[in-house]
Parts: sequence; C-alpha cells; structure tokens
Amino acid sequence: MLPPLRLGVNIDHVATIRNARGGDHPDPVRAAEIVASVGGDGITAHLREDRRHIRDEDLARIQTATDLPLNLEMAATEEMLSIALRHKPHAACIVPEKREERTTEGGLDAAGLHNSLVPIVDRLKQAGIRVSLFIEANERQLDTAIRLGVPVVEFHTGEYAHAFADGDNGRVASELKRIADMSALAVKNGIEPHAGHGLTFENVQPIAAIPQIAELNIGHYLIGEAVFTGLEAAVKKMRGLMDEAR
Ligand code: PXP
Repeated sequence: MLPPLRLGVNIDHVATIRNARGGDHPDPVRAAEIVASVGGDGITAHLREDRRHIRDEDLARIQTATDLPLNLEMAATEEMLSIALRHKPHAACIVPEKREERTTEGGLDAAGLHNSLVPIVDRLKQAGIRVSLFIEANERQLDTAIRLGVPVVEFHTGEYAHAFADGDNGRVASELKRIADMSALAVKNGIEPHAGHGLTFENVQPIAAIPQIAELNIGHYLIGEAVFTGLEAAVKKMRGLMDEAR
C-alpha cells in the first residue's frame, strides 16, 4: 500500500455559477463545508486578477467555515502577494495567469521568471505559507523550483488529460512517464510533488498510482459532476478511485 493521497477540491466553479447571476447562490462556502464533511483534505481556490469566480471576501469566509487547509492559487503579482499575506492560507500555489485564457492552460514558466519569483516566494515563506509552483513536469522547471527552495511543486496534468481524451495511448504513456520521473526527482530533492488539471473519474487512477505524488487538486470535473449527482457523491467517488489506485 502506498501512502495516502490527499484530495484538494477546487471550488472556483461554484463561484462561476454564482457570479453568472450576480447574487449569493450557489455559495462556494457551502461547497467547502460539504467537501470537509465527506473526507476532502483541502480546499483550493484561485483568486484571479479579474475576479471571474472567487472574490476577495470568499477567502476569509472559506477560512472561517472549515478547518480544512486552504490552498490559494495566485498569480505572481504584488496585489496577490499582499492578499496572501493578509489571509495567510495554509498554502499558496503560484500559477501563470492570462486574462484571455479560459483556465490555467499551461504551467508557470518558473525558469524564465526566476528573478521575479525570488522575492515573492521568500515573502510567502517568511509568512509561514507553504509555497508551491504549478509547473510542467520537466527538468528545467523543476531545477528552478529546487533553486527557489519551494517545498512543493504541482505538476500540470493538462497534456496528459488531453492525450487521454484523444485516446492516444502513446502520448498518455509518455506524459505519465514524464510526470512519474519528475515526481521521483522532486522527492529526491526534498520537494513534495502534487498534480492537477483536467483530472476526471476516467483518467485519475494512473496519476493517483504514481507513488511519490502526495496530493491531487481537482475542480472543474467534480463541480460538473455535482450538477448531476451532488457534490457529496462526486467527491466520495473521486476519493474512492484515488484510494483504489494506491
Ligand atoms: N491545480 C491548479 C494549480 C489549477 O490552476 C487548477 C485549475 O484552476 C487545478 C488544479 C484544477 O484543474 P481542474 O479544474 O481542471 O480540475
């Protein structure tokens, strides 16, 4: 049996639906409470520059409503840094952000941004926040994470998810190998590997079976499934599939 794998549930898209009508419903805080009650291990929320889903006030409400650790996804900007320092989430995952993209379409170019990341990573670390970088699983990005001294990296599983959806077994295998190899290298260098993006009931198990990966962050698919089966059932099923793969 492999060590257990944590499930962080990204509740952004509950807020997307709320914001479509401009009122208070559905409330992402209620989603966080349900995740806590059914064995989720953490809440992930991305406060985007354009506030298209999670809003500033949601962060404190989520932190008050549950004891689960909050993983704040944030762009590497002064504005987001000051919000993170004010709210002191358990973890902060630095993600790339472009206004025009629909979601976080690729990993952070940590290697290219190294010098601008140094002060942000340092200030988050000094505040006791567990810093993670959302990167592609390759040596160049991982080397930068090692140099920056972050305790966690989250590997972007988007390419794997696309290959899986295309039924391209060769690409699935090479994506899995890349993620598995970089997870092993991360652990060797004292970094805890996480993974996420585009994970579903169908494609989660090969990623969950990578022994070094300690946490998966899953959002869009779970919230979509919740429309049909309820959030409780969707989280429980994902949890079960992850456990089965270990
Ligand atoms: N992890 C990170 C760092 C992300 O930016 C996202 C997407 O917001 C996810 C995980 C979850 O991806 P998905 O919504 O496709 O499950």
